[in-house]
Amino acid sequence: MSDRPTMTTSAGAPVPDNQNSLTAGPRGGIMLQDYQLIEKLAHQNRERIPERVVHAKGWGAYGTLTITGDISRYTKAKCLQPGAVTPMLARFSTVAGEQGAADHERDVRGFALKFYTEEGNWDLVGNNTPVFFVRDPYKFPDFIHTQKRHPKTNLRSATAMWDFWSLSPESLHQVTILMSDRGLPQTPMHMNGYGSHTFSFWNDAGERFWVKFHFKTQQGHKHYTNEEGEAIIGKTREGYQEALFGTIDKGEFPRWTVQVQIMPELDADKTPYNPFDLTKVWPHSDYPPIEIGVMELNRNAENYFAEIENAAFSPSNIVPGIAYSPDKMLQARVFSYADAHRHRLGTHYENIPVNQPRCPVHHYHRDGQMNTYGGIRTGNPDAYYEPNSFNGPVENKTAQEPPLRISGDMSRFDHREGNDDYGQPRALFNLFDDGQKARLFSNIAAAMGGVPGEIVERQLAHFKQVHPDYEAGVRAALEATHGYKADTISADKPQAAE
Ligand code: NDP
Ligand code: HEM
Repeated sequence: MSDRPTMTTSAGAPVPDNQNSLTAGPRGGIMLQDYQLIEKLAHQNRERIPERVVHAKGWGAYGTLTITGDISRYTKAKCLQPGAVTPMLARFSTVAGEQGAADHERDVRGFALKFYTEEGNWDLVGNNTPVFFVRDPYKFPDFIHTQKRHPKTNLRSATAMWDFWSLSPESLHQVTILMSDRGLPQTPMHMNGYGSHTFSFWNDAGERFWVKFHFKTQQGHKHYTNEEGEAIIGKTREGYQEALFGTIDKGEFPRWTVQVQIMPELDADKTPYNPFDLTKVWPHSDYPPIEIGVMELNRNAENYFAEIENAAFSPSNIVPGIAYSPDKMLQARVFSYADAHRHRLGTHYENIPVNQPRCPVHHYHRDGQMNTYGGIRTGNPDAYYEPNSFNGPVENKTAQEPPLRISGDMSRFDHREGNDDYGQPRALFNLFDDGQKARLFSNIAAAMGGVPGEIVERQLAHFKQVHPDYEAGVRAALEATHGYKADTISADKPQAAE
């Protein structure tokens, strides 16, 4: 008798044979009563869950957030008080590719963080960029359609991307970052993370502050050129997983310095830009970053599917002392993620261990898929509605954020009216040295292969408004890469930039 454990069915009964199906005679057929064979095949058919509709390819690890600074006058959040150490999970990702996509593709990287605080889970679901392509969530599904496959060809479409971008000048800032060196980081450890949106802090005195979060890599920024990225993909499609998993496995723990920018509540009426516009940063000179701590990743998951694929990050997860802002994109995300999780993972997705808060949970949600916690989470089976006389959990007013002053007529306001889409991309362009500019131009030209001239010209006109050198540089790169000539374009028959 071996000292290895006995293999069982999922119902716990010993399995007598896991090599040979149950058959009538050695040649078959197979008996319908071979339950364990049917069970194995049925389970295999259900091994995949829907991949994330965006950010499907990802890499994750656990770690800690340690607070070293003192921002207690801005927020009462316990996890942000001096000396607090909070366990956390990070998942990095690309946006557009499917679950099997190659890691080293030029794309924005997701930077999703879940902090298991004693007051509940706080999720910061950011990117490696401080801004985004659109500022109204009405346009998010349209934008994502341009990043995914064309319905007829089933190919990614450069035409769709540049058509949408050239018709949406608010995308210029993010497009410039995406096409710059930072659009292809070498590994997840060699990039910054940004909460991107404006969030809010509130303190015990009921004062509100607007806040932006930054995670600055301590490993330094490292990027690949398109050519280097292509050479790596030729050898491995899993370069990020290898790098992140391997680094932590070796005991080399990547770290990020955590910073916040803080804006007093009433300043939001005074800034020349809308501080709740996700296509804008707050210039450091106006709101200097304040260092508050360090994030370290130091433990790999034991099971990728259970812990990383099943992870459900949501901007709706906040804790007392941290709150949302009027950013329209953030408000739509507060709805969208939990909805996605209920579809992708099931009704009680927060009951999956990786998503479970590390503090007591008491609520009145009832039955449904994956309710494994025995009915209701109130501590008393008679307390299954609220209010009740049976010691069920009750609300706690100290978790209520201060009132927010809002005003205005209800309407569909044109988000482009009076909005400068060119100034901040210009500030970024002016930061680039000659080498960075040359790579920006050639990356854009490479990404424009096959795009009709009409669309190219529309986009070049936007680049020109950012800086004449930007337009001239991309135009020259288009000529060098694709033999592109503007004077051959007719409105009837657009010439492809190839
Ligand atoms: P600063 O000079 O104070 O800050 C410049 C910032 O640009 C730094 O945080 C730097 O990041 C970052 N940066 C450098 N190269 C790139 C790149 N290729 N892609 C993206 N970011 C890069 O200027 P401002 O605060 O006035 O901002 C100027 C411009 O810098 C903005 O328009 C924006 O495009 C960009 N930026 C600004 C940020 C902000 O929060 N203010 C954050 C990130 C970018 P690092 O310190 O890591 O080198
Ligand atoms: C993933 C919606 C904008 C960062 C997702 C998912 C949805 C979604 C449905 C899949 C969630 C899942 O299945 O687990 C939206 C909508 C947006 C928006 C509706 C705008 C209105 C943004 C922005 C950022 C962002 C602005 C960054 C600043 C991410 C990240 C993930 C993600 C990092 C992957 C999370 C993970 O690792 O599991 N988004 N998104 N998204 N989104 Fe967004």
